[in-house]
Formats: sequence, C-alpha cells, structure tokens
Amino acid sequence: MAIKITGTGSALPEKKVTNFDMAKLVETSDEWIRGRTGIAERRISTGDTVASLAAKACEKALAMAGKDAQDVDLILVATCSPELLLPCCACQVQSAIGADRAVAFDLNAACSGFLFALNTANVYLRSGLYKNALIVGSEVLSKLIDWTDRSTCVLFGDGAGAAFMEFSETDDVCENGRLAGIEEMVMGSDGAKGMVLACAERTASNPYYKEIEQVKPYVQMDGQEVYKFATRQVPACIKEALDRAGLTVDDVDLFVLHQANVRIIESVAKRLKADLSKFPMNLEHIGNMSSATIPVLLDELNRDGKIKKGDRLVLSGFGAGLTYGASILVWDN
Ligand code: ACO
Repeated sequence: MAIKITGTGSALPEKKVTNFDMAKLVETSDEWIRGRTGIAERRISTGDTVASLAAKACEKALAMAGKDAQDVDLILVATCSPELLLPCCACQVQSAIGADRAVAFDLNAACSGFLFALNTANVYLRSGLYKNALIVGSEVLSKLIDWTDRSTCVLFGDGAGAAFMEFSETDDVCENGRLAGIEEMVMGSDGAKGMVLACAERTASNPYYKEIEQVKPYVQMDGQEVYKFATRQVPACIKEALDRAGLTVDDVDLFVLHQANVRIIESVAKRLKADLSKFPMNLEHIGNMSSATIPVLLDELNRDGKIKKGDRLVLSGFGAGLTYGASILVWDN
C-alpha cells in the first residue's frame, strides 16, 4: 500500500514587485531586505483571488496526474487569507474546476497549512475512506498586510501550489530499493505563543457586544520570536520524524522547507548538520507566500526535473499558531 503525490501545479500573479519598488512605498532598501531575508521580489495580486489561484494550480496538478476533475474525491485548501469566510475556498475551487463528486473543505494552519493538509489527506487515504485528494496552499497575503509597515510588508507575496495524492493498493519499489510514498509525519502546535504572529479578521460587532481590545486587521509579528521558534522547532520536528522512520539526515535527498527567510533555512541546515545544497530555495523571486511556499517549490523542482523517482524528501512547515510539522516521502512521479 502507498500514498503518493502523482501531480503538482502552481499559479502566481503576473505582477512582480521588486525591493526597489518597495523602497518607493516605505523607508527600506534592497540591501536591507536581501540581507535580512534573501527576498529580492515578490508576486502581488492585481485581481487574482485565493480561489482563482488555487483553481489554476489544481488544474495543472490534475493534468500532470492524468486525471479529470470528476475523478477527485477530496479537496483540501489550506489558506489563512480567503476572500470569503463563507463559502470556504475549497468549495469555490470545486465549482471552478468542476470536481462535482469531491468533498471540499478548508484548513487553516497558516504557513504550515499545506503540510497539515498533506498529513490530513494522508490519514483519510490510508483509512480507505477516499482514494485520492487534491491538496492546495493558496494565499493572497497582500490584502492582510499594512503597506505602510516596513517590518512586515516587504516579507510576503501571493500565489498558490497544489498536489494530487493517490492511494495505491500495491507497494512500488524504486530502483534504489526504497518504497515510494509517504513514510512518516509529525505535527505540532503551540497556541500559548500564538500572538507573536497574528492578524485579526474583523471587529466583533453586535448590539450586546462588550468592547475588548482588538488585534489589528493586518499581519503583526514579533520577528525575533518567530525566528527563535523556527530555528529551534523545525530541526527538532524533522529529527523526530526521521527517528520515528528509523532514518538519519544522510538518508534524505532534499529538504523542502517553508520559504520564510533564507537565514532560517541556513540555520536549520546547520543545526541538522546537513549540506545546504540539499535545501532548495525560491524565495528570492517570490517571497513568503505562507501555505503556498512548499507546494510552489515542490512544483518548480518537479517540473525542472530536480526530483527523481526514489528520492527521499522531507517537507517541513512552520508558522502562525504557532504550528509546525514535517513529512517524509519517497518520490514517485
Ligand atoms: N527596511 C529597513 N529597516 C527595517 C525594515 C525594513 N524593511 N524593517 C525593520 N527595519 C528596522 C527596524 O525599524 C529596526 O530599526 P531600529 O533598530 O532603528 O529600531 C531595525 O530594522 C531592526 O528591526 P528588527 O525587527 O529587530 O529586525 P530583525 O533583525 O529582527 O529582522 C526579520 C527582521 C527579517 C523579520 C527577522 O526578525 C526575521 O528574520 N524573523 C524571522 C521571522 C520571519 O521571517 N517571518 C516571516 C513571516 S512568518 C513565517 O513565515 C513563519
């Protein structure tokens, strides 16, 4: 038995906004942003929505898997920036792509969202309830950003990535002897530290409501706390997943991490004593797209032929919640 990713897809808005463009909006510089984050430019929506980007990414993932929208059993959209609270984004995607048979719902674990969707779908598929799932990370964070706050507005971008997952009855042994499919997963949450990275939806309002202090409706972050959390928790949860699978860092070919910040990724590599060349990055050109970063990077690597059948990947996400997790899988695509 195996649960495998058989198709990937991604969609980005066309509009590129460089660090030089950002310097026209707030007091910042290309040097500061690149030096602190590794980001040079990001894609910003000029009309794309979380649902429209997600639908485009899903169509590409389905085409790669050689499947029709009618074949889809389950759609999970991970997002923290939906345009609509109701209906959920996954139902909008279902309608847009014509996946009439699917069960569709959203999941919000911020930047860990795609990873949590992968792990949730893994459990559903393993249980036998569904045979396949479209899992998506899609964000239009540009609407959650205070474009006058230089400490946050330079960090984020918009985009979506998707993967099609399938259950197969039989084991698939790769040439290197590894069994294809998802091997292990670890997830964690630390709600007590949640307010170090927060964004309010809208002020509560009704005739009986007692005014309490509200969180601002823009992303607010204690960057240093997030940095400490990520550099401690990500290597720890990757190690936990490897230990559970009876593997070591040397058994891993690629570490596909949430693309928040190049310094976080460098620190994780160092703490794991793993070669940085095993940590592909694309954040220079698209910035931090929260739940979309892992599936967009996965799709880029897949389409560029940088992942071979039999390669072992560790995917790891971390973000608001605070949430974190890691999944280990052997590629078969
Ligand atoms: N341009 C120029 N100066 C800036 C900018 C900017 N865009 N933003 C902040 N500054 C200034 C501050 O005002 C401050 O100035 P001061 O010393 O005169 O007061 C100075 O730079 C240092 O500010 P810090 O907030 O201390 O900057 P820090 O060195 O911590 O870097 C950063 C900020 C890059 C966010 C860092 O904390 C970090 O890497 N955090 C990790 C978290 C992260 O990457 N979050 C991304 C989203 S969350 C996620 O995806 C999980």
